[in-house]
Amino acid sequence: MTEKLVFLGMGGTIAGTATSAGDNVGYTAAQLGVHALLESVPGLRVVLGGHAALSEQVCQIDSKDLVPANWQLLWQRVMHYLGMDTVAGIVVTHGTDTLEETAYFLSRTVPADLLRSKPLVLTCAMRPASSLTPDGPGNMADAATVALCPGARGVLVVCAGKIHSAAHVQKVHPYRTDAFDSGEAGPVGLVEEGHVRLLSHWPAVDTNAGMLAGDASNWPRVELLLSHAGATGALVRALLQDRAEESPLRGIVVAGTGNGTIHQAMEAALRDAQAQGVRVVRVSRCAYGQVVGGAPAHRSGVFVAAGLSAVKARIALMLEIAAQP
Ligand code: SIN
Repeated sequence: MTEKLVFLGMGGTIAGTATSAGDNVGYTAAQLGVHALLESVPGLRVVLGGHAALSEQVCQIDSKDLVPANWQLLWQRVMHYLGMDTVAGIVVTHGTDTLEETAYFLSRTVPADLLRSKPLVLTCAMRPASSLTPDGPGNMADAATVALCPGARGVLVVCAGKIHSAAHVQKVHPYRTDAFDSGEAGPVGLVEEGHVRLLSHWPAVDTNAGMLAGDASNWPRVELLLSHAGATGALVRALLQDRAEESPLRGIVVAGTGNGTIHQAMEAALRDAQAQGVRVVRVSRCAYGQVVGGAPAHRSGVFVAAGLSAVKARIALMLEIAAQP
């Protein structure tokens, strides 16, 4: 039977349209279906190399508005297709704004045995489909190339000719088409004229992947705060007061200054939160590097440090809390 490459649509700018082809900014995201996007991919038949393309619209959303239920639905469809013998891999078209969060979420929740030989590749665009010079079709062709590349594995992001791992990828620019970066780790590889050139190894797959169970609206609530000059404990106290609400606060991730330090006023409030059973994790708000040193060299050391970006640490903490007995 012909093997398939599955394209799952989530919306985003790649599916966006503007009233004028010259407008790359004033558009509405998530307008075209993934089937229509496929039709605009240059040389798709050559890229597919005998594989059949199968497409499904999973969501149609501006990714800034994603909610846990969207992730749950995408995860279900990914599991469905990766479990099929006739599927070689998956490409997900997604908005750029929270792409790194979805990629990381999938990398932590899709079982390793499904990703070892079948890559799950997320791609996107910075210009709408209606643009005079759209970047989405080329990115989709590159993503398909990666998804069908022998040896490729894991959850990957492909944009502007670069292949990033879910663990390191971050959106770093609000406008330019090469909007993603993998920081100090660098990209996994490049796609050049339809060929993959690896710069490092394909990412390891997570052998401890575990899914958040049940109704997505009940997944552990973890909020994200930023420490800064003039920070206070007001936001932490407001969150604590909110604890009795339907979705009680279970954790806080703080993007701290420098090596994960936290303003003393905010820190005092976070200690109260911790005393009330709220998990507190700190990360660095710096663009590069991660919190260094296990010993509490400063008082903020009472909070666990994560070597992840703030948005990914939030997902990791949700998974950790959900896995607790
Ligand atoms: C989105 O994230 O859905 C809109 C912005 C984009 O895709 O660049």
